[in-house]
Amino acid sequence: MTIREIPAATLDPEAFLAEQVEAIRREVGDGRAINALSGGVDSATVTMLGHRALGERLRTVFVENGIMREGEAARVAGIFKPMGVAVEIVDAQEEFFAAFRGVTDPEHKREAVTQTFYQRVFGRIVRESGARHLLQGTILTDVDETVAGIKRQHNVFAQLGIDPETAFGYKILEPLIQLRKDGVRKVARALGLPESVWNRPPFPGPALAARVVGEVTRERIALVRQATTIVEEELAGVEAFQYLAVLHEDRVTGMRDGRREFGRQIEVRCWDSVDAREATPTALPFPTLRRLADRITAEVPGVVSVTYNIATKPPSTIEVV
Ligand code: XMP
Repeated sequence: MTIREIPAATLDPEAFLAEQVEAIRREVGDGRAINALSGGVDSATVTMLGHRALGERLRTVFVENGIMREGEAARVAGIFKPMGVAVEIVDAQEEFFAAFRGVTDPEHKREAVTQTFYQRVFGRIVRESGARHLLQGTILTDVDETVAGIKRQHNVFAQLGIDPETAFGYKILEPLIQLRKDGVRKVARALGLPESVWNRPPFPGPALAARVVGEVTRERIALVRQATTIVEEELAGVEAFQYLAVLHEDRVTGMRDGRREFGRQIEVRCWDSVDAREATPTALPFPTLRRLADRITAEVPGVVSVTYNIATKPPSTIEVV
């Protein structure tokens, strides 16, 4: 089944909202549903849309998977509380790190996230709650890249011939599947979400695991998390689609305090793009790049090399995994 795209330019957010609210109500009937909130613009939009459709019958869950950015769970709960949405934080860190143990292949890592998230964690939550539907913020770009075999996006099933009801025991509703990121931002604004949400740079479902080359461990996530905080602080005022830090696997020779240090490498990426299908590196001023390097080498333990990606997508992709 091909999905009919609604381009941002022709999208009428109010009409779209009314249609989707109706569709969610029709599908869920008088039952209950769960929604998976990660804090990104897509899942935040689905959360508000779902609450408009179902009110108290929608339970919103933020999974603390151990691979999120610094302070994310509290930040997300704090944004939704004043909007009348209680966010339930579920700690599943042990399960995620157990699933990552010994896994280095990028697609296997993505599969580990998918299975842990949908089968183990949400399988349990949905079963216990008696809900039959999970709402999530899949968008058209996620589907395209998965179907094209570029990356298995963590949240795409039907287009791969997987029936979530058989595989996980619940149905998945994807109200944003006809939109791309620019369209979702328009809908998010129409729903009254704050600019810090609708204008937030995208963040991938597999979270910081998409930014670690090689095995994902607590220690390696802690390093990329620290580098991410620095990159987000330093580039906050830059007009870019997305910016991120990557932890590499290869070590390189460096020196600190007059001694040899066989150290780590962090790569910084900053992208100009409209909808993530194609992207170009942002022409950041050199002093900005130098400041990033100084902070990352000083603040992230063992980092002796900081590089800036200058290749376009394609042939690169935005995330490294
Ligand atoms: P790539 O790395 O494929 O990313 O050029 C394109 C856009 O999608 C985001 N991304 C994901 N989003 N689930 C998501 O919800 C995923 O598995 C995933 N992988 C990448 C990425 O951050 C970029 O904005």
